[in-house]
Amino acid sequence: MDPIAKIFEEAKKNPKMRKKLKIKAAFSLVLFIAFLGVILITIGTFVSARNGSFLGMDHLDFLKLRAKYGLLMMALILTHLAMNWNMMKKELELLFG
Ligand code: HEM
Repeated sequence: MDPIAKIFEEAKKNPKMRKKLKIKAAFSLVLFIAFLGVILITIGTFVSARNGSFLGMDHLDFLKLRAKYGLLMMALILTHLAMNWNMMKKELELLFG
């Protein structure tokens, strides 16, 4: 088993850590599902630019939707980053520290 998976398995056994990991896991799932929306809107933006419309919406509709959806993704990603900030700091230290 890779070392990170091993640490995860150990952390799962600690009830406090388990709760924390479950909150992170639930948030990651929300982020993943929201990301499927990004794929759909991006495809819609491309296809409607070529064909005039996609799923009943024109190119401008998709651009407007993308702007709004982008705000939602920004909020989700910033929260995700805040939740993983310690790990991110360690990764940055590895690169520049
Ligand atoms: C788009 C959908 C995304 C999904 C589904 C996703 C999912 C995940 C998952 C499952 C983890 C590991 C478990 C956890 O700690 O929560 C993780 C870790 C992390 N993510 Fe994301 N993530 C996404 C986007 C992003 C973006 C855009 C950024 C940066 C701007 C980012 C930065 C990080 C960092 C810094 C970590 C912790 C360090 C690491 O494990 O390497 N993630 N993400």
